[in-house]
Amino acid sequence: MGYMASGKSTVGKLLARQLGAGFIDLDDYIEKQEKKSIKTIFLEKGEIYFRKLEHQMLSRVLDENPSMVLSTGGGTPCYGNNMQTILEKADHSVYLQLPIPELVDRIAKEKEQRPLVRNIADADLPEFIGKHLFERIPYYSLATHVVDCGGKDVETVVKEIEKRL
Ligand code: S3P
Repeated sequence: MGYMASGKSTVGKLLARQLGAGFIDLDDYIEKQEKKSIKTIFLEKGEIYFRKLEHQMLSRVLDENPSMVLSTGGGTPCYGNNMQTILEKADHSVYLQLPIPELVDRIAKEKEQRPLVRNIADADLPEFIGKHLFERIPYYSLATHVVDCGGKDVETVVKEIEKRL
């Protein structure tokens, strides 16, 4: 888990490969179920619809897949009782922590695909992300492992996670 663009999918995929486990990306799972992109779901049905779906799919995925690495959406742990569900059903939860400037750089490059930031002007991104992350940190921080990913490549992050499991 972690903020948008923190590397959840990339790190999760490599971690799963290293562990010989399956890998599921919750956003991909939702897109397959709905046969629509996350962007389209937000545009057509709105965020509340997406959050309900995300909540249902999170429990389903965790119940149906006892041995896997799951990459959540950036907001997944922060809505309803999702974080409680994660703590109850997953053996480990990992928060990929990144400094705000690194998140801003990454998000600015792919803003268009991200429904929550696509209408934010580039100049306003640092403030938006700073505030948004501040609201989410209390949830992310409940993860059983907090990994500082600032300036680190994917392989280094994965090794650090493996050491902790
Ligand atoms: C969201 C993050 C996205 C996706 C949706 C909402 C969020 O996932 O679930 O756009 O609330 O932070 P990524 O973090 O994988 O981009």
